[in-house]
Formats: sequence, C-alpha cells, structure tokens
Amino acid sequence: MAAYEYETHEYDVVVVGAGGSGLRATLGMAEQGLRTACVTKVFPTRSHTVAAQGGIAASLGNMGPDHWQWHMYDTVKGSDWLGDTDAMEYLAREAPKAVYELEHYGVPFSRTEEGRIYQRPFGGHTTEFGEGPPVQRTCAAADRTGHAILHTLYGQSLKQKAEFFIEYFAIDLIMSEDGQCQGVLAWKLDDGTLHVFAAKMVVLATGGYGRAYFSATSAHTCTGDGGGMVARAGLPLQDMEFVQFHPTGIYGAGCLITEGARGEGGYLTNSEGERFMERYAPTYKDLASRDVVSRCMTMEIREGRGVGEGKDHIHLNLSHLPPDTLAERLPGISESARIFAGVDVTKEPIPVLPTVHYNMGGIPTNYWGEVLNPTPDHPDRVAPGLMAVGEAGCASVHGANRLGSNSLIDLVVFGRAAAIRAKDVVDPETAVPTPNAASIQQSLDRFDGLRHAAGHVPTAELRLEMQKTMQADAAVFRTDKTLADGCAKMAEVAGKMGDIKVTDRSLIWNSDLMETLELTNLMPSALATVVSAEARKESRGAHAHEDYPDRDDDNWRKHTLSWIEGAEVKLAYRPVHLEPLSPAEKGGIDLKKIAPKARVY
Ligand code: FUM
Repeated sequence: MAAYEYETHEYDVVVVGAGGSGLRATLGMAEQGLRTACVTKVFPTRSHTVAAQGGIAASLGNMGPDHWQWHMYDTVKGSDWLGDTDAMEYLAREAPKAVYELEHYGVPFSRTEEGRIYQRPFGGHTTEFGEGPPVQRTCAAADRTGHAILHTLYGQSLKQKAEFFIEYFAIDLIMSEDGQCQGVLAWKLDDGTLHVFAAKMVVLATGGYGRAYFSATSAHTCTGDGGGMVARAGLPLQDMEFVQFHPTGIYGAGCLITEGARGEGGYLTNSEGERFMERYAPTYKDLASRDVVSRCMTMEIREGRGVGEGKDHIHLNLSHLPPDTLAERLPGISESARIFAGVDVTKEPIPVLPTVHYNMGGIPTNYWGEVLNPTPDHPDRVAPGLMAVGEAGCASVHGANRLGSNSLIDLVVFGRAAAIRAKDVVDPETAVPTPNAASIQQSLDRFDGLRHAAGHVPTAELRLEMQKTMQADAAVFRTDKTLADGCAKMAEVAGKMGDIKVTDRSLIWNSDLMETLELTNLMPSALATVVSAEARKESRGAHAHEDYPDRDDDNWRKHTLSWIEGAEVKLAYRPVHLEPLSPAEKGGIDLKKIAPKARVY
C-alpha cells in the first residue's frame, strides 16, 4: 500500500479541464453561487479550444434567413441519424442564446458593416431543411474564434471568483462504494504534492483523445483523461468508433486549416487541377459534410490523382481570394500555411490531407451533461455526482459525424446546461461528502505503481506503437480485415502496459510519469474505438466500412457502449433517443422533416 500525504479541498463543484466547456461550466456554476474549483493540467488559455479556428454555429440569421429548426435538421443529417433527437433540439434552440451571452461577456466577434456578429458558411449547414442554398451560420472572430472565447470565459470566471488549480493533473475519480462520484485525486505538477478535491459534483471537461492517433490536429494534451478515469471507475464509453478526420490538416505537420477557408471561397483540387468535389457533391461541393469531403479526398488519392511527389495529398486553393479577405478573415491560417507548409496563400495552394480532428464518442450523458451508467432496463440511468461536457462527453448531438462549428457551440451550450442542472441537483447548504478512503488508496497505489514502473517498454515507444496501429487500422476507410488486425494489434499493445518503463521517479515536473498517466487514459479509448468499429457492420457518418457500404438503420441505429478493463472491451448497445423535446404543436420540429433518408449533399 503506497503511503502518500495529500491535502483535502472541499467544493460544491469541481470541474476538471479549462477548455471552452470547462470554463463555461465553471463560470455558470460560480455565477449561481456554487463554490467552484477548476482543476486543469495546462494554463486555461492554453487549453486545446484555443486552437479552434473557424467559428461557432448558431442560427442568428445575421447574413440571411436562418432558423433553429434548419440548424437542427442539418445536425441530424450530419450525425447520419445517430444523434439523440432531444439533445440535438436543445443544441440548436439554445445556440443563439449561448452566443449572445458570449457576446455580452465580451467575445470580440468579427462584425458586419451594420455591427452584427459576422457569420460564414461551413460544411453541411444549409437552409430550408437541406433544400435551400448554404447558410452563413458560423459566428467567427476572424479565424481565432476559440482563442477569443477562451480568454473571455477565463476572465469572466475569475470575476465570479471561481478558483483555479492550474497545472494539477487529475489522476482518478474518487468513487463511493455505491457508485457516487465524490471528487478527484490530483497531482500538482510543479511541487509534486497530492490533492483530494472532494465535491458534490464533478464535471469532466477533459477534451478528446485525438492523440491516440499518429497524425491529429489535436494538441498533445488531448489524451482522453476523462474517458480513462471513467473507464477505470467501471463506467462505459459510448460511440467510440466514430472518429472525425478533418479534410484539411496541413500535409506532414497535421495542423488545422479551418473549414472557414472553404467557407470564404477556397476549394480543393487534385493533380489534374480538377475541382473534384463538384463530381461527388454537386450541390454543396467543397462545403459538403466533413466525413464526405475526407472520403472523397482519400478516393482521389487512391485513384492516383493525389498531388505532390508521392501523389499522396490534395491542394487547397485560396490564392484567388482577395488579399483583404485573407488578411481580415483568415490571418491565422495564412500564418500557419507559411510556417508549417512554407506556402504563401496569396500565390500557392496549401498541401492538405484528412487528419484526425474530433471524437464524436465519449462519456455518455443526457443533454444536461449528467453521466449515464446504463443498464439494459434503464438505458438512461444517471451516475450520481458526475457530469461530462464538451468533447469528453457524448450527449449525443454529433452522432456518427459532427458538423464543423458545432463543436464550439456544443462546448458552451452543454457547459451552460451543466450549470443550469447543477442549480437543481447541488445543494450549497449541505456538507461535502467525506471521500471514500479505499478509492483514494486505490488511486494512490496506481500512481505509485506507475511512478516506479520498471518494465522494458518506454512510454514513448508504446504510445507510438498505439498511434501507428490506430492510424493504419482505424482510418478513414475500414474493412473487416483492417479492423480485425487493429483489434488484435491493439490488444497486444495494451497488453504491454504491464511492462511499461518509467525512468524518472521524482514527483516534480516529471513529464515521463505524466505522459505515462496520459497513456493509461489514451489506451482504453483507443481499444474501445477499434473494438466498437470492428463490431459495427454498416457504414454511418465517419465509420466508412468498405465491406458494409450502406447505412443499416434496422440493425444499427443504436449507440455502442464499451466497458474497458485492461486490454478487454465488452460491448453493449442502447437506443438512440428519437423523441424531440417539444412536440410540433408546441413549436417543435415536425418529425417527418428529420425522418431518416439517404444522406446526399
Ligand atoms: O475547420 C475548423 O475551423 C474547425 C472547426 C470545428 O471543428 O468545428
């Protein structure tokens, strides 16, 4: 039994993570007088949301007609009919309110001539329930929208006296014997001390697990920490097979070139100089949904029409756009293209390739952000004391594929929803429950075991093996063979966790240990991804299965649940929510409008 001293802190709410959803939840909780701590492994404004470029979707209608029901329809279609209807309605209805709140908090949005929030077109966002032209729905602060939101929310949270514990790494959830989350154990990276954050509610806002792959637009900190903690607590993850590839990562470097570049008029070409998207998606062309564009690019490359020496990437053209537009609307990506691809966007195309960008799956929640611990009889059973928001969570609004700019709006709508819900379920007058000593000890033992791990496989080596396996076998296109190979290889890779080698035994700024803890979080997500994908015998959204090219609603319109223990993954399924929040006669959407159909753009 490892003996470590720790300091105990008590709060009504502890939020883990300080990206867009974590800060929006922190702010909302603090605004209503809940004693709120935000525990984060990086400085808040360095969280991955800072990299979000193109914007945040909301049907403000500043640039032409728009309606929340059109936004909902696009989200349903984008999700390839796997999203939960109630959550998608909540997202689309609340989006304008959430964006105006951001504006009033001080987010410096770009403006129209009349002074309204500027909105640009983004893939898959349309008018008239997909029958009309593309809509300008994505509210932007140039191409640095996430940066603007993050700084504003951090400032507002400080104003509301939320307390920040910065560069604290959350190791594990503290769970009571009867399954109530009672807090987290965290390691303070700069002085090596350990801390128990006891709370009535823990909110996981830890982001995605893009770094399970070799090439990702995600920051190196995106290691699925919340998913790892949840899996170790015996709770399931959901829909992990759905991994989004963004069409335009810079070839080689993987950095994001925003979809806003195509929204402002950029277009893709192959080695013949052809605007090939016109062939695949005659109506919306380069502004088709992301999964569609990524697949088309991959097909062009496979058929020998890729560009460059290796014919292994595609060109994104912006040089026809007025220099003023590039300078005013796309300054960030102009700089990224220069630094990471050596390209002057006013003169040359950017070399791009579909790159892992987003995890549609995550910790299952309802639309209030409450974590679910489903059973066959109670698929919506809530796990007490635990919420998950943002990319860590799966509400599920994105289903099998997320629309661009629906991520930032997900962060703020569901961060805000968690705070609204907490008002009802967290009583500031009651005492904070004493955290379960056995659960704390279990976590300390795990921490100590990794700190002193004296096996043969260095963390960086095993991480690379995992990343290469995921990149090769759980890719844009999948087959029975690649997925079976992926499952076997990932079981072998995960099996090596017991032989991990950590060389630094210190507790202060021990990046070797921190990366090992992160790997213990990435591994269950990677395993769940490939095992869930192998089991799903259809194609839907980002899961493009070449042996089962069609969507199969009769058998597969259901969420995958995965419980992970060591290298073992157990699967079960829960139904998709088909009921909207409000019936048509009370202003809700007509269900006939969102009935499943072929998904063409
Ligand atoms: O392309 C982008 O700017 C990314 C946006 C998103 O993932 O929502």
